[in-house]
Amino acid sequence: MSFIRKKSITAMIQEKNASSDGTLKKELNVFDLTMLGVGCVVGTGIFVLTGVAAAQHAGPGLILSFILAGIVCAFCALCYAEFASMVPVSGSAYTYSYATFGELFAWILGWDLILEYGFAASMVASGWSGYFQGLLSGFGFNIPKAISSAFDPSAGTYIDVPAILVVLALTFIVSRGAKESTRLNSIMVIIKIAVIILFIVVGAFYVKPSNWTPFMPFGFSGVVTGAATAFLAYIGFDVVATAAEEVKNPQKDLPRGIIWSLIVCSLLYILVTAILTGVVPYTMLDVKNPVAFALQYIHQNWVAGFISLGAIVGITTVLFVLLFGQTRLLYAIGRDGLLPKKLAHLHPKTGAPSTSTWVTGIIVAVFAGLIPLHRLADLVSIGTLFAFISVSLGIVILRKTRPDLERSFKVPFVPVVPILAVLSCGYLLISLPKITWIAFLLWLVIGLVVYFMYGYRHSQLAEQRDHSDHK
Ligand code: ALA
Repeated sequence: MSFIRKKSITAMIQEKNASSDGTLKKELNVFDLTMLGVGCVVGTGIFVLTGVAAAQHAGPGLILSFILAGIVCAFCALCYAEFASMVPVSGSAYTYSYATFGELFAWILGWDLILEYGFAASMVASGWSGYFQGLLSGFGFNIPKAISSAFDPSAGTYIDVPAILVVLALTFIVSRGAKESTRLNSIMVIIKIAVIILFIVVGAFYVKPSNWTPFMPFGFSGVVTGAATAFLAYIGFDVVATAAEEVKNPQKDLPRGIIWSLIVCSLLYILVTAILTGVVPYTMLDVKNPVAFALQYIHQNWVAGFISLGAIVGITTVLFVLLFGQTRLLYAIGRDGLLPKKLAHLHPKTGAPSTSTWVTGIIVAVFAGLIPLHRLADLVSIGTLFAFISVSLGIVILRKTRPDLERSFKVPFVPVVPILAVLSCGYLLISLPKITWIAFLLWLVIGLVVYFMYGYRHSQLAEQRDHSDHK
């Protein structure tokens, strides 16, 4: 039963300070963290998926879908915030589970997050490539078809070169270390927010309230279906927690960063959806670039041009933070010995986990470049929901088993809020298609094989226990 061995939280904090490879540099503050959160959250969800969700599922009721999904994410964000204040160690939900549920479950969750971040990054990279090529063609420049999209000979495409190049370029930036890369991220996030505010301000003058009726043309069930898209749009605030060890004052700043990210994104989303469905009749929103389309619809073509540019910058930051999160996760898993220790190696100059960074970048580039991934959005959602549920349950368990631990942020009304988080995420989870479940279970089985072939034998925790009488 040694695979249920748990890590002590105090030991984790001591260990991260005493790693032989040095420690990650503590450089980030609340602002950087909020920018990381908003950077990872606002992207394809709002710029690409809202149109189809409004036209086919929710109508103007998509505003409600965003509010509903925002509430679900708020319950989860509070739970992440408490954990982050209690265990300010890299690895997010993976690390939290190591302390709560034991090694095997922590590994399963780590493996699950590799799926979430990795697939999401590959998918977002293909989305980026699509938007980028759209912009280039606006200037009359088209790249050869064969290298414009993932492998699909029947469509005449073999490799998505722009997706590969953007992933490698961002990997290089991540490899420069947290401060440098987050500074660039913050600049891009500010551009993204400015463009969205421009949309809200210009669009507000063209809203016709009659477009909001009927408000729920597909009934409340349509609103709930729309919430699945809205949920995908919120994914990313959790990635903030992976940066834990690079934060100057993690116990206070991490919870704030997570909660601020969610507040900023919820406000932007609700306003954008309200304006979008108020400006254009929802039936016409079935397009790939709904936000820019709405502005063309009201003949504000110059603003529409800005929006396309803002969308590209915005999707770039999503990709950047997902890559960043994945590298910190691999770093934490490598340090624990559940994957090769080399992943925890820090570059002496930049202080960044260079091996994890390039392993992540190359794998994501290969996936994004070669495999058509646009159908995998549900797999990203299932992975995220699984992590959210585990973190929320973990809060209830640790309040019972370790009431003594210092928590600079506490979820209010425990166990009500975590239970609401579990139930609402569980509801979204069971409404996902069967094929997604099968693919997810297959991924977990592969993970279990990897654990028993490698991690179980190389676990740092197991080694430490062998060397001491420590219980
Ligand atoms: N929330 C991220 C996006 O919408 C995944 O692109």
